[in-house]
Amino acid sequence: MSTVVVYYSFSGKTKAVAEKEAAALGAELIEIKEVKKRGILSAFLSGAPKAIGGKASKILPFEADFASYERVILAFPIWAGNPVPAFNAVAEKIPNGTTVELIFTSGGGNSGKTKQKLTDRLAKREITISAFTDIKAGV
Ligand SMILES: Cc1cc2nc3c(=O)[nH]c(=O)nc-3n(C[C@H](O)[C@H](O)[C@H](O)COP(=O)(O)O)c2cc1C
Repeated sequence: MSTVVVYYSFSGKTKAVAEKEAAALGAELIEIKEVKKRGILSAFLSGAPKAIGGKASKILPFEADFASYERVILAFPIWAGNPVPAFNAVAEKIPNGTTVELIFTSGGGNSGKTKQKLTDRLAKREITISAFTDIKAGV
């Protein structure tokens, strides 16, 4: 089965999770990078408000023909209770009708609302969430 794991990681925790998952599944691994590398201040002062607003950040181009994979796994951190802005940038590039599995890492906050919000938002794009895993990776 052809599987891709697409991830963004600010401080390395999601990277470790994504690498482990890809290795276990024999999946292709694609790292998403933002055009402007963030520092911690930018993460809190600009990234977190963007995450709350569901806004996308500028990411470097990446090659992923989502339609060609049988499984699409997206692994991203949670900022301020919401997926990081890089997640929103990737979501914009996923074709309508795709089914995705989501893995979020967080410091331990409750992700129940995040799941519902995202399910509603992605449903408008006809993107189906087939699995939602919340990993408490710590801060
Ligand atoms: C700007 C910022 C905001 C965060 N907000 C939350 C939050 O609202 N709830 C939570 O549980 N963790 C929060 N965290 C912790 C991260 O989600 C957690 O450490 C994550 O695993 C980091 O992944 P990474 O190392 O791949 O960047 C935040 C971290 C940062 C940098």
